[in-house]
Amino acid sequence: MTTAVSPAHRGLEILYTRRQIADRVAEIGAEVTRDLNGEQLILVGVLKGAALFLADLARAITVDTTFDFVAVSSYGKGQNTSGAVKLIKDLDHPIEGKNVLIVEDILDTGLTLSYLRKIFLQHRPKSLRIAALLDKPSRRIEKIEADYVGFRIPNLFVIGYGMDYAERYRNLPDICLMTSDHPE
Ligand code: IMP
Ligand code: MG
Repeated sequence: MTTAVSPAHRGLEILYTRRQIADRVAEIGAEVTRDLNGEQLILVGVLKGAALFLADLARAITVDTTFDFVAVSSYGKGQNTSGAVKLIKDLDHPIEGKNVLIVEDILDTGLTLSYLRKIFLQHRPKSLRIAALLDKPSRRIEKIEADYVGFRIPNLFVIGYGMDYAERYRNLPDICLMTSDHPE
């Protein structure tokens, strides 16, 4: 079922409500906490899309947790990436011997997370897991799966809850779809 967003956002419809997101994030937080057996954790958010997911997920995890952030750019603008991924902001703190959870908004082609996994593994973390709020398995190019997935979706372009279209809509509290009624 889809619902209209506010009139300021004509042409958008809700795919997952803030309530559905909150419930799922709470479940993932409990799972992450359980899997850590009381050990410390470093959450590594992939800027900017994962910022809201990381903020909520962090509060659903009850072990001792610190934050770090990386930023990547993929060549080619728009909805399709060209393949090459570049790190434009590296980790601030060492991850050697630590439990690391990469927090990403969407696992799409898998190019971004395969690249991050490869470079993080070179730092020899104690464990390295991936949490992706959304997973689009039909789009995969690289063989990679997340350890924790919020929702599996078909090949739809989504915005809101951190995710953007040309940098807009990140602040929408719900995960939304653009419809044919969208003004742009
Ligand atoms: P990939 O897995 O390397 O293809 O790229 C994943 C990145 O592409 C995500 O972190 C998003 O930034 C972006 N992305 C993929 N699908 C969408 C979408 O539906 N909406 C907004 N951004 C998307
Ligand atoms: Mg992203």
